[in-house]
Amino acid sequence: MAKEQVQIFDTTLRDGEQVPGCKLDTKNKLKIAKRLDELGVNILEAGFPISSPGDYNSVVEISKIVKNATVCGLTRAVKKDIEVAADSLRFAKKPRIHTGIGTSDSHIRYKFNSNREKILERAIDSVKYAKKFVEDIEFYAEDAGRTDNEFLAHVCEQVIKAGATVLNIPDTTGYCLPNEYGSKIKFLKENVKGIHKATISCHCHNDLGLATANSISGVLNGARQIECTINGIGERAGNTSLEEVVMIMRQHPDLNVDTSINSKLLYSTSQLVSESMGMIVQPNKAIVGANAFAHSSGIHQDGVIKKRETYEIINPKDVGVDKSSIVLTARSGRAAIAYRAKKIGHDLTKLELDNVYKEFLILADQKKEINDSDLPEIIKKVK
Ligand code: KIV
Ligand code: ZN
Repeated sequence: MAKEQVQIFDTTLRDGEQVPGCKLDTKNKLKIAKRLDELGVNILEAGFPISSPGDYNSVVEISKIVKNATVCGLTRAVKKDIEVAADSLRFAKKPRIHTGIGTSDSHIRYKFNSNREKILERAIDSVKYAKKFVEDIEFYAEDAGRTDNEFLAHVCEQVIKAGATVLNIPDTTGYCLPNEYGSKIKFLKENVKGIHKATISCHCHNDLGLATANSISGVLNGARQIECTINGIGERAGNTSLEEVVMIMRQHPDLNVDTSINSKLLYSTSQLVSESMGMIVQPNKAIVGANAFAHSSGIHQDGVIKKRETYEIINPKDVGVDKSSIVLTARSGRAAIAYRAKKIGHDLTKLELDNVYKEFLILADQKKEINDSDLPEIIKKVK
């Protein structure tokens, strides 16, 4: 049976770029946009066009070069925002306007000093207005994670009637638990009239480290689009990480969902974004971190050398990493030393290995990591 497709909506260049101090210029944005298109993202959120002339210009230029993905621009539920976004998307083969407004009581009361009726009216008006410019309209109910489900369902129903093709249900503050976020999506699937006419999208922030889990929970409950960023970058603790959700669906065929992402480009894309933004990837980051396929303890190394799958659930080649690595530290065992020695041309006997190991431990207790230039020195000493 063919797997159901989950659309990947990449927002590295919009929500991702909201990381303090990591601003990208148009040249770098174009480089990343080209790569995201090659990676196979379905929708590429290129920016928030009204926010600055630079962002407007980036959306214009990105629209010209993207070949496959839908190009999307963010707006508030404000006419001028929508006009500027529509204008910036004029060269896009497949343009989408992403408009919306806060729907939680907190946003309604404190941000807008308004009430539910007026917010609903603005939501409907903004979708109707955006529809005058493009066919594909995504509506976001900001802070949906903390919005009352009945009201959220009512807003969703009305914006679908007004022409929204995608409903974005953001957990803007990263507050929800996975079962809570999943139940919200299920509630919308079961209670919004006309829901079959729209795609439900998950947009989860990582304030409690739950963005990936929440997005997957959303998909398990009927969402068919995930909004995410390369390396999980974004406001505060970041957004859902693209590489994580893609590989979760790939590694779990039982979920019966997949994406169009070429996973072999994940590692190099992560590096490109990291270098362009001057933002390092934490070494223990799932999928793309420097240690994601590195083994340093003796027990693990022994297993991986015998059969990679004993300690790895992903083949590194599938995400564009050349190979797993055996790192030599004071926690390494004889198997790892013999393995690395062989790689640099020394086939050690059992006795030689015992002697090398003793010397190795003395040095390893002083140094964090023993590299390929240290090993020949130790071998020379004992051979
Ligand atoms: O987190 C959020 O709610 C957003 C919206 C603007 C889509 O980024
Ligand atoms: Zn966001």
